[in-house]
Amino acid sequence: MINTLKLQPKINVQGKVVLYNNKAQTLLDCLELADVEVHYHCRDGFCGACRVTLVEGQIHYPAGEPLAYVGDNEILPCCCVPVTDISLRIDE
Ligand code: FES
Repeated sequence: MINTLKLQPKINVQGKVVLYNNKAQTLLDCLELADVEVHYHCRDGFCGACRVTLVEGQIHYPAGEPLAYVGDNEILPCCCVPVTDISLRIDE
């Protein structure tokens, strides 16, 4: 998929500010590049292992809504990209 985002949304997470790098395919890739540890398993929206809380901002699922269960305000970084600046909370 061609990424047409021109901006670099900022990601606030665990006291760090990470710029969303357009080379990253997903939010999970971007967090990994920034050494932010996120649990994951399938990396494809099925298992829900990567679930984090979206505290602020908006994300988009380029391949459509994922199948894994997510609660209110939770997102799956393995298959989403940020649309605006976002803040995340990662529960250990
Ligand atoms: S790693 Fe499985 S849903 Fe994200």
